[in-house]
Amino acid sequence: MISTFLHQIDQSPTASHVVANAARILSEHGFIAYHPSNDSRPHGERGFVVRNGTVIAWRNSMRINEHGARIIGAHTDSPGLHIKPRPDMTVLNWQQLHVEVYGGPLLNSWLDRDLGIAGHIVRRDGTTQLFATDHAVARIPQLAIHLDREVNDKGLILNRHQHLSPVWSVDQPPTSFDAWLSELTQCDRGEIASWSAQLFDTQRGEIIGKNNEFFASSRIDNQISCWAAIDALVSVDGDTPMIIALFDHEEVGSESAVGAAGPMLEHVLESLSLHNNGSRFDYLSLLQHSHCMSVDNAHAVHPNYVDRHEMNNAPLINHGVVVKHNANQRYATSASSLLPVVAAAEKAKVSLQTFSSRNNIACGSTIGPIAATRLGIDTVDIGVPQLSMHSIREMCGTKDPLDLVALMRSYLKRS
Ligand code: CO
Repeated sequence: MISTFLHQIDQSPTASHVVANAARILSEHGFIAYHPSNDSRPHGERGFVVRNGTVIAWRNSMRINEHGARIIGAHTDSPGLHIKPRPDMTVLNWQQLHVEVYGGPLLNSWLDRDLGIAGHIVRRDGTTQLFATDHAVARIPQLAIHLDREVNDKGLILNRHQHLSPVWSVDQPPTSFDAWLSELTQCDRGEIASWSAQLFDTQRGEIIGKNNEFFASSRIDNQISCWAAIDALVSVDGDTPMIIALFDHEEVGSESAVGAAGPMLEHVLESLSLHNNGSRFDYLSLLQHSHCMSVDNAHAVHPNYVDRHEMNNAPLINHGVVVKHNANQRYATSASSLLPVVAAAEKAKVSLQTFSSRNNIACGSTIGPIAATRLGIDTVDIGVPQLSMHSIREMCGTKDPLDLVALMRSYLKRS
């Protein structure tokens, strides 16, 4: 089962690829695409809507006004290096690309990796086309230790503007990025109206460890939660309303038209309510009857840095799904909102662990508090424990993701 995730993550170097994969799987399971701009109606039984790097899908919405919905939220994007417009630069005979740091990657992890380029083009006729190189085309070489003798003792300091430009050719005369992209996508330069591109690690996801107990890959945060949510939605039986919302732009604060702070989920919920002849009162009551599980990875205890954890609330790899708590509302979990997740875990026989950060180390945040603030829906923050969060190559256990799927199925089914 985990091999399907390995395959999906390898096929999904960008948020747009995650969404395209999700749309394909949903379509294969009878979910019908809803296009709000075409004035079509959302399909109540099984439907989904895609916008850029975000996808929201639902099942059994016919009774949403009476029951509310069980909602699973996650994010499709990962921190990394995006290619800037007009990216071409030349230093001596080196051809390089200007990049922009997206979110908070561990920058050192991007050095000396074999990097591909992926993204999408928008044609003049308004259609989009995904692309990804099938091999590495770029690299950010680290400075040799002989030219930086103190690096191991004083730490690596990277100037974000100066030190992150990848090299990708010494060809003369230089060919432009636009010309290269036109050839890669087999689309005339005049036909490409605009594009979005980013670097990605070409090394595939692998199962590692003495007993195959770990999983190493790029973008585990948060594609593992997207994969689990899609798998749970298409495979669970049950006739109660259920929704998954996979948002772009979480790594940069979620504030965009398609981010969790935008109106997309709200619009979907209202459309489904109206489609089932709900009044404004029905819609407001639907929100009160709904519940959201915000799923994003958690920090497992790092054995070399146990002092960074609060040991009573420190998650272990392959010991179950983590519930994240933060009294300052960086996570949305509350004593009362937790009940449906505890009940679902008991039914599914999945262990829950807890995470709470040390008082002197600020924790991250998730889409949970944002969605809860926007919609007033009871929300819980959970996730799979992992190490190396925001590295180009992260790791987690092979058992916890399966527990996550089992928990999600039980939660969606309200069993
Ligand atoms: Co995340």
